[in-house]
Amino acid sequence: SEPQYEFLKVSTPRPGVGLIELHRPKALNALFTPLILELNAALRAFDKSTDIGCTVLTGSYKAFAAGADIKEMAPKTFAEAYGSDFIESWSGLPNLIKKPCISAVNGHALGGGCELAMMADVLYCSTAANFGQPEIKLGIIPGAGGSQRLTRAIGKARAMELILTGKNFSGQDAYDWGLAARVFATPEECLTGALDTAETIASYSRIAVKAAKEVVNKSQDLGIREGVEFERRVFHGLFGSEDQKIGMKAFAEKKKAEWVHR
Ligand code: HXC
Repeated sequence: SEPQYEFLKVSTPRPGVGLIELHRPKALNALFTPLILELNAALRAFDKSTDIGCTVLTGSYKAFAAGADIKEMAPKTFAEAYGSDFIESWSGLPNLIKKPCISAVNGHALGGGCELAMMADVLYCSTAANFGQPEIKLGIIPGAGGSQRLTRAIGKARAMELILTGKNFSGQDAYDWGLAARVFATPEECLTGALDTAETIASYSRIAVKAAKEVVNKSQDLGIREGVEFERRVFHGLFGSEDQKIGMKAFAEKKKAEWVHR
């Protein structure tokens, strides 16, 4: 039976697709510790489930997430923040799960909300989505990877300006600048688009999908030569999988591959 969450809605709307909806509507999905703990648990559960091949993470149409919870953060001391490694539990999300996660961003995605959206493997949004790293206005800076992921995605010139001014940017901007893989006219289309893509990904060999995510992510850490060598090693390794034999045999026989995910 599926675990019950207080701040998430969790479902399986398509074959092989896990959907996690952040659900703290009164605070526009502000990210506080109980919600983050549930999110980690839900992501891990889908990642472990043999029924699931891809996850979609979304909020409401009004807010993906309006940031880390300012009221929870306000009284923290340096010793508390440093001592408990505040934020560490979720800024490592991309490495926590091996299966792909698509974020479908509608409404506000600010501060930690923008950072959470960027942690996903693929980011989709609607044109009116409202992104930003407004931390500077609160006397702090991005703390969950924003300064690194936004900069890599849209370039130093734009990221520096946005992080220093705290100015917001639209879903259309996110797409035009290469942060979002796709942009949709409405929130409904955005969520449907994310679920469609997740269903496609979930229809492939889990082994190959996991390897594909791993090698693309490595490109962010390695130089081109080491990256290409890493890719080739993983590519060679896939010839040890049953799914490689199944996929290529199915092509030759003009049949649909029936993956065994081994
Ligand atoms: C705590 C929040 C919140 C947040 C909204 N709320 N954002 N509570 N932390 N980040 C609460 C409000 O206090 C309010 O509660 C309720 O949600 C509705 O918000 P309103 O402001 O009334 O809504 P609206 O007028 O529509 O404005 C929406 C908004 C605004 C523009 C998104 O809420 C806003 O500016 N929020 C803060 C955005 C922000 O600065 N985010 C970055 C946080 S710093 P009540 O009880 O009054 O009804 C951050 C650091 C990350 O994320 C570093 C590492 C993770």
